[in-house]
Amino acid sequence: MKNTFLCSVVLVLLSTGLCHGSGVITVDFLRGATGESVTFTTSVKPAAEPFLALTWSFNTTVNVVTSTSVDIVGQGYENRIVLDKSTGSLVLSNVTEKDSGEYELIIIPHGGEHIQGTVELEVLTAVSNPSISCPTENLIEGKSSVNITCDADGLVSSTLWLKDGKPLVSGDRFSFHHGNRVLSISPIDRKDTGLILCNVSNAISYQTAECRLHVYYGPDKPTVTQKPRRAEMEEKVSLSCFAESLPEATFFWTFRNRKIPGPVVHIKEMEEHHLGAYTCTARNAVTHREASEVHRLRDSSPIISGSMSMMVCTVLTSGALMLI
Ligand SMILES: *[C@@H]1O[C@H](CO)[C@@H](O)[C@H](O)[C@H]1NC(C)=O
Ligand SMILES: *[C@@H]1O[C@H](CO)[C@@H](O)[C@H](O)[C@H]1NC(C)=O
Ligand SMILES: *[C@@H]1O[C@H](CO)[C@@H](O)[C@H](O)[C@H]1NC(C)=O
Ligand SMILES: *[C@@H]1O[C@H](CO)[C@@H](O)[C@H](O)[C@H]1NC(C)=O
Repeated sequence: MKNTFLCSVVLVLLSTGLCHGSGVITVDFLRGATGESVTFTTSVKPAAEPFLALTWSFNTTVNVVTSTSVDIVGQGYENRIVLDKSTGSLVLSNVTEKDSGEYELIIIPHGGEHIQGTVELEVLTAVSNPSISCPTENLIEGKSSVNITCDADGLVSSTLWLKDGKPLVSGDRFSFHHGNRVLSISPIDRKDTGLILCNVSNAISYQTAECRLHVYYGPDKPTVTQKPRRAEMEEKVSLSCFAESLPEATFFWTFRNRKIPGPVVHIKEMEEHHLGAYTCTARNAVTHREASEVHRLRDSSPIISGSMSMMVCTVLTSGALMLI
């Protein structure tokens, strides 16, 4: 019972070829690039006498070379092979994807067992001519979405995207389509400004292409700085306005329905009629967006002396007027 079982296992292994392994060939799998050479190296020790026969075949049925007293080189292998008759090692040059498949070596020595080995060859065409479609229109934060396509010649088995050297992963705003060939960013954000790179590769090669993104944004809500922070009557005061924006924003102020060019309002001597609400408006010429902030200019003079000086002032002014 047990013996019969073992027997069938052995038979199955033999008939499915699992017992072959790589035989005398040093590797059972080899990868090559189109146009290059591959070498099938054997572990066969050169014998004292030349082998009776030596044959390399492709995909079981195609003769690559059969060497007895004469060499018969298969069609399509002329000038492409170099055979070492003492070890069976074979160099196959100028390989193409059509050369992908199984190669088998059989050696018949003078006496002794047949020597056999197989090797699987995979020929890939190197990735070349990478190209990336960079957006040409203005990219505006929160409004634009963009698709960037990466293409290349040759067999592309993987496409990776990087931003400033770090891999991009799909998430809220990033997604990948058509087997990663297309990177979609929606909506676009100011953080996306930078260098986008696609890396197309296969097992034997890779190429990259890149694209610089400029995302226009803003203006954000302006901030107003008053100098000095506590302004007193008759003092010099300035109000300056700033807002994050790309390109830089242009500014104007509105005070009592009057428009004042920005970003800074200069008041040489603060007077009563200068006090009140100043509105700074920032404007971005590319995004066509505006943002405003209101700042109230107050009199921070000490209350008593403040009102007194004002009185003195009024008295003086009226006195002067009367003199004229
Ligand atoms: C390699 O093979 C290609 C196509 O099979 C052929 O056009 C080319 O001339 C060959 N190059 C060499 C150096 O043999
Ligand atoms: C050789 O065999 C492999 C499978 O092992 C197959 O993919 C390939 O197309 C075959 N090549 C030719 C030229 O018949
Ligand atoms: C980007 O590609 C996606 C998916 O193919 C499509 O739905 C979307 O309309 C495209 N967006 C742009 C801006 O071309
Ligand atoms: C591109 O991908 C290949 C294969 O994954 C990797 O070896 C290589 O370092 C990558 N290059 C860049 C610039 O990311």
